[in-house]
Order: sequence, then C-alpha cells, then structure tokens
Amino acid sequence: MGSGTVFPMKEIDDKPGGVSGAVSVRGLVKHYGETKALDGVDLEVREGTVMGVLGPNGAGKTTLVRILSTLLAPDAGQATVAGYDVLRQPRQLRRVIGLTGQYASVDEKLPGWENLYMIGRLLDLPRKEARARADALLERFSLTEAAKRPASTYSGGMRRRLDLAASMIGRPAVLFLDEPTTGLDPRTRNEVWDEVKAMVGDGVTVLLTTQYMEEAEQLASELTVVDRGKVVAGGGIEELKARVGGRTLRIRPVDALELGPLAGYLDDLGITGLATTTVDPASGTLLVPILSDEQLTAVVGAVTARGITLAAITTELPSLDEVFLSLTGHRASAPQDTVPVDDREEVAV
Ligand SMILES: Nc1ncnc2c1ncn2[C@@H]1O[C@H](COP(=O)(O)OP(=O)(O)O)[C@@H](O)[C@H]1O
Ligand SMILES: [Mg+2]
Repeated sequence: MGSGTVFPMKEIDDKPGGVSGAVSVRGLVKHYGETKALDGVDLEVREGTVMGVLGPNGAGKTTLVRILSTLLAPDAGQATVAGYDVLRQPRQLRRVIGLTGQYASVDEKLPGWENLYMIGRLLDLPRKEARARADALLERFSLTEAAKRPASTYSGGMRRRLDLAASMIGRPAVLFLDEPTTGLDPRTRNEVWDEVKAMVGDGVTVLLTTQYMEEAEQLASELTVVDRGKVVAGGGIEELKARVGGRTLRIRPVDALELGPLAGYLDDLGITGLATTTVDPASGTLLVPILSDEQLTAVVGAVTARGITLAAITTELPSLDEVFLSLTGHRASAPQDTVPVDDREEVAV
C-alpha cells in the first residue's frame, strides 16, 4: 500500500506548508512480534475537518495515534502532521498538536486549575500567560467552580472535560482524541460531544478514534474504518452509511392494523432505501430502510398524507457490528488477545 509513493521531505526548520493535509499517512506499519498492529495504513485528514477512525478493540487505533503524536516510532511508512514529519521533526510536531488519550492524563491530586497551569508552564508559557490560559479554559469547559478542587473529586464527565481543556492549552492545530467517550454514560458522552463540536467550530483539525458508529456520526465528516491494522473502508459518512445500508426508520402507528397496508404502500412509492420495509408485530412498529435525510422526510410526509397518526418515530444507525459485517464479512468483536494499553513502554524520539 503506497510503497512506491515518494513524499517531499521538509527541511528541519521549515514552516509547515499547505501542500499536504493536516495529517498525511502513507503505508504505516507497526508490528509487535507476530501482531501486526498497523499493516500498511494510508490516511489523509484535510485541514479543519474531523476524521473518525472507527474500529473495534485491537484494530490499531491507539498505535496510530501514538505514532502520529511521536510517542512511538513506526517500523515503516511515512506520516506528517501539520506538515511536520513524525520521525524527522518530532519537536516541531509536538508543538502543534494536542492529545487526549483513552486514559485520563490529568494529575488526580492536583486541582483542575493547577493541572492546566502546570501544563502551560511545561509548554514554556510565561507565568502570566499560563495563568490566563488556565482561567480561560476552565471557563470554556464549564469547570470554573471546580477549579480549586482536586481532580480526584471530579465526576467522569468533568474529568474528561479537564482532559480536553489540557489538550487545548498549547492552542493545537491538530488534536488527537483517542476514544474520548469510552466508558462514559450517555449524558456525559453528549456533553463531551458538544465540547468537541465547539472545538471544531474554532477551526482545529481533529483525528478521533472510536468504537461507536454513533459517535462517528455525531462528530466526524469523514470516516476511516480499520480492522486488524488495515483500512477496510473510507470516505464520507453518508457514503459509508449508504454502503452498509443506511439507517432504519422505526415508526409506530397508533393503530396497529395500519402496519401491513402501510408497509406495502411505502414500498410501492419507491421512496425508501434498498431493503424492503418490514413489520415488527411484537413492538407494533414498521422498520423502514432509509439512505438519506431526504428519504426520511419523504416517508414521514407520505405517512402523514395518508392520514395515519403516529405514536412513536425513531431512527437507528447500523451498529459497528453491522458496519463491520457488511464491510469485512466478519464480526467486529475480535478475540480477546489484546494486552492492556496503559502498560506500554514509550519510545522517546
Ligand atoms: N506494546 C504492545 N506490545 C504488544 N502488542 C501490542 C502492544 N500495543 C498494542 N499491541 C497489539 O496491537 C494491536 C493493536 O492495538 P491498539 O493499537 O491498542 O488497538 P486499539 O486502540 O484499536 O484497541 C492489538 O492486537 C494489541 O494487542
Ligand atoms: Mg485504543
């Protein structure tokens, strides 16, 4: 994959140019003994966009993020971030990135404010600026009231927000979020999503890894699906959803007797997705395949025009499992042969 590609190498002190994407990855390989954590990965993230890297446990997501943030050296291949080469310009590269790992990186014993101030100082900010930045980011992530409390007293969501704030101290151009909401409850997950959306609104480029199709749908404009160290699919979210059969619209008419006739009616209209509409008698609902928001609107319009009253209406995304099955022919749930991610040695570059 991309083995013949020649990439222009920048001079050591060269400013990043606008030639390549914010993140450019060519033929990246990383092996751990027999395990091919990355087996020739190509990836391109355009400036100001959010790339979702979707894959099950053990797919190689964290390995990719660690290489891109210079914590780990690849065995082969090339990667640049904001124009800086991961191997040749690690110092410059680190100055323009932010990283939020799967495991919290804040110091539990320190108050939120101290955590942020300390990181600012580590990034060589003058005291005054580090102080101002800590204040501003606590405010920004709604943590001002908890500023003086040790992070150990924070809820899961607060901790994750502090993590995000920490990754923003250096005003990164590119932000890596490695499974930012894994282990969070749905409400907290929504909070984190809102924060990430706001950050993207500020113009930062994001590479986000996730195990959740729904998270990718919420945050990413483009998706790279990885499995066992390889890219198995990539493209726009809509395009990929269409490839795996889109979403399912679930509607429940007040009158269950409408179910059968309505299913036939919708299929005859030809306004739905590729699969046929099915009736789920147990829940009294109709499962309508849809490929786009336009189809969703058309179906609801057709039902309304027929004078049918609806008691409930929801849409369901394909699960990661369904996406995988459709793209790879096997289930996403990989055998549990993975090692704990937090015990790995770090490679100083
Ligand atoms: N330090 C390591 N030593 C041995 N194997 C590792 C190490 N780090 C990761 N792996 C293996 O590489 C594969 C990819 O891991 P990882 O990048 O953590 O995947 P993900 O983040 O997608 O869950 C897994 O099979 C994992 O067990
Ligand atoms: Mg991981």
